Amino acid sequence: MKVEVFLSKGITKINVNDYKPLMKMNFNGKKADPKFIKMREEKINIDETSEGIILSKDLGVKEHVIGLGEKAFGTERRRTRTVMYNTDSFGYGYGTDPLYVSIPFFISVRDGLPSGLLVNNASSIVFDIGVEDYGKIKIEIPENGSEFYIIDGKTIEEIVEKLSFLTGKPFKIPGWALGHMISRYSYFPSEKIIKVVDEYRKFLPVEAVFLDVDYMDRYKNFTWSESFGKPEKLLKEMHKRNVKVITIVDPSIPVNQKYGPFMRGLGNYCDDENGNIYIDSMWPGRCAFPDFLNQKARAWWSDEIKRWIKKYRIDGIWLDMNEPTRIVDDKGVPLDPDAIHTKDDGTRVKHSLIHNAYPLFEAKATYDAGVKFILSRSGFIGIQRYAAIWSGDSVSSWEDMRLQIPLLTGLSISGVPYVGCDIGGFSGHSDAELIARYYQMAAFFPIMRNHKIKGGNDQEIYVLPDKFRGMIQRAVRMRYAFMPYLKELAKEAHEKGHPMIRPLCYEFQGDENTYMIDDEYMVGKDVLYAPIVEKGRTSRDVYLPKGKWYDPWKKESMEGGKWITSDNEMPLFIRSLKGKERILEALSEIRLDSNS
Ligand code: NOJ
Repeated sequence: MKVEVFLSKGITKINVNDYKPLMKMNFNGKKADPKFIKMREEKINIDETSEGIILSKDLGVKEHVIGLGEKAFGTERRRTRTVMYNTDSFGYGYGTDPLYVSIPFFISVRDGLPSGLLVNNASSIVFDIGVEDYGKIKIEIPENGSEFYIIDGKTIEEIVEKLSFLTGKPFKIPGWALGHMISRYSYFPSEKIIKVVDEYRKFLPVEAVFLDVDYMDRYKNFTWSESFGKPEKLLKEMHKRNVKVITIVDPSIPVNQKYGPFMRGLGNYCDDENGNIYIDSMWPGRCAFPDFLNQKARAWWSDEIKRWIKKYRIDGIWLDMNEPTRIVDDKGVPLDPDAIHTKDDGTRVKHSLIHNAYPLFEAKATYDAGVKFILSRSGFIGIQRYAAIWSGDSVSSWEDMRLQIPLLTGLSISGVPYVGCDIGGFSGHSDAELIARYYQMAAFFPIMRNHKIKGGNDQEIYVLPDKFRGMIQRAVRMRYAFMPYLKELAKEAHEKGHPMIRPLCYEFQGDENTYMIDDEYMVGKDVLYAPIVEKGRTSRDVYLPKGKWYDPWKKESMEGGKWITSDNEMPLFIRSLKGKERILEALSEIRLDSNS
């Protein structure tokens, strides 16, 4: 086994067996002695087996492990064994693994001191955090070579910042994408969308509407169904109201000689083992899949996207099913592992080895077409350069709503700052209380979008009883009161890679209490939010870490380092009031529910 080590500015790069990674990191280090392969005081062992490379290190009895991207676990990822393999996880819940996004990165914190580990490899890596062996972290890489990085820093933030330096700065999110957005599988036809938007706007601002697959002619990308109505009129009406329009696009391209995009894309699809176009099932029927790993294919895709957004003045693209997924027995599963890609340098590679990077290169090609806002379901390290992520097909339940907090803050501290979930939950029934509390829980999520499955109950504010309408209005008003702050955080995310929402331990890494608190989150440095996430409740316990806190509803200051009970409708605490005068003034105009 050949091991090479390079050092630069608190980052150690390790290359095993001359591995050529798919993704080039932003790193230029000096060669060093392999004996430096350490995460803090712990030695990392590298073993070569017939199955691939295994990295391992000791797991301390009180060591915390956080990160690992989009995972359906609490903030603390100890005692989890997870796989990195982007998967369509319809109806997932706590413990479902894997989900849609793979970020092979974690931060371990020992005695309050953090250390980061990033594996730059897009195949199906297993992270075993003290499950198989109680006292070990083990990383199994199914290849005979790999590249990985150890990231040192004094704070979790410093490590996240270095991660973003390595993998690329988040794109600049437009201000409107931080506002309230609406979606449905599928609002149809176009006149109904105008009505929905107008009804909504009686109660809430609407910055954007998402068009789900039914706008297309039989699920064909870049087409409109005739019965949907004239797209030009819809776009004109929406833009008149200052509402942006975002259309869904799936990677599957139906094999049909009369379909322009398929014909123009010839030569740019994945192959099968015999060198023919790899064809598999997706909603439009037999489909080919763009080979986004290839520069020529990306250029073709960019052209298709460019033509589409220019012609209809589309404001954003929603990338779905991009794990990538095919349909087998009515279920979404990953593409055939034996499909073949042709990389830019002409070498051919099996899909399973690059699977997780597919959505990254799809998002890149889409972004390069000049799209200002992309919402993607799947992703890999680096996805933050091009797209925001939403957490896919959740279930409408209290438990799953609550899960969104550690799931999305975990993704945020893994280098992906623009995140959100389907408000209300995607499948299953959401009652009015759940919808209202969902809005309140997600009030500070960078992406705020209501979305629901086809045939599911309506979640629009205008169909709800007034009590719950009021709760939603107050949540959205609270968010808009904080909009200048959110915009500052988005700027900080773009410039430094800092997450916008954070688990408590991110800010208070030395406070042992914070690692298992999954129902509160920080919004930037200064705001702690503890939404009510249980049915029927009007008050809750809140842990306030050490420091001075201010309750803007009660207009009271208090000392942290303790648990308090809050009966505010939306328990909110501010650390530093500096520069927040405008926010406090806007908040003081919101009358909270008198029950609480
Ligand atoms: C799956 C996506 O996760 C969901 O949000 C969307 O509504 C459906 N695909 C239909 O396009």
